Amino acid sequence: MAKPPIAGNRTGRKLGQKVKKGKLKASSRRWLERHINDPYVQRAKLEGYRARAAFKLLEIDEKHQILKGATRIIDLGAAPGSWSQIAAKVTDSSDDDIRVAAIDFLEMAQLPGVKILQLDFLDPDAPRQLIEAVGGTPNLVLSDMAAPTTGHQKTDHIRTMHLCEVAAHFAVEVLAEGGHFLAKTFQGGTEKDLLNMLKQNFRQVLHIKPASSRQESVEMFLLAKGFKGKNGPGIVVLDDEGFARDPREDIPADEDQDQD
Ligand SMILES: C[S@@+](CC[C@H](N)C(=O)[O-])C[C@H]1O[C@@H](n2cnc3c(N)ncnc32)[C@H](O)[C@@H]1O
Repeated sequence: MAKPPIAGNRTGRKLGQKVKKGKLKASSRRWLERHINDPYVQRAKLEGYRARAAFKLLEIDEKHQILKGATRIIDLGAAPGSWSQIAAKVTDSSDDDIRVAAIDFLEMAQLPGVKILQLDFLDPDAPRQLIEAVGGTPNLVLSDMAAPTTGHQKTDHIRTMHLCEVAAHFAVEVLAEGGHFLAKTFQGGTEKDLLNMLKQNFRQVLHIKPASSRQESVEMFLLAKGFKGKNGPGIVVLDDEGFARDPREDIPADEDQDQD
């Protein structure tokens, strides 16, 4: 599905363009130059996607087939909306039969078939609102959430990792058996506890760096495939206080032995 980026100027714009020295700071000028010369940005324009991020999802899907069979999708950190565009298409979602719920604290332009919540995902009521919005049990949870940058790299890193962790616990709470979870993370950043939790709950857990993710960026994606289901072996769920626990601990010791 994902083709390599266009090399030429089918958008009518040549690659290798320079931005004139003027009022812009050197760092902003470099960013702008990189942006307008980025073949994925040009291709997103050409194919009608709201962001180049679309190609990260399409590339991951091409290799790992997570969109095929997705019937309800939750998109966390969705603005401006390219992943939601793809999600609405693959689920055949429409305003009469919504199958995609998207959340972002930034405003996002409406998309047919997508219920958009303008809300912080860390708001305690966000999980309930998302489930209500998607209208049934999702079998794909996507998170491209990145914490707003503060200029302090370590702080930004920790905040985005926290978002990834909260998204993972949410996925385990809401996914249908066999469902998948894809989230943005950072190179070397996935906590061991989080990885263990995912490995207990999913059949396969892997890290991916798609070609469309800028090489100089430490961004990576964490993919957990094949949710074992709420009654699966070794499942970890959150208790009322938000701590992960194994529900089998609730089973009296003698019954527990019967389970094994
Ligand atoms: C890289 S962008 C997502 C791009 C999107 N996947 C697309 O295809 O258009 C990351 C988004 O995460 C959002 N975000 C970060 N933290 C969030 C939070 N706590 N709750 C909701 N959205 C959040 C940001 O506002 C930003 O729009």
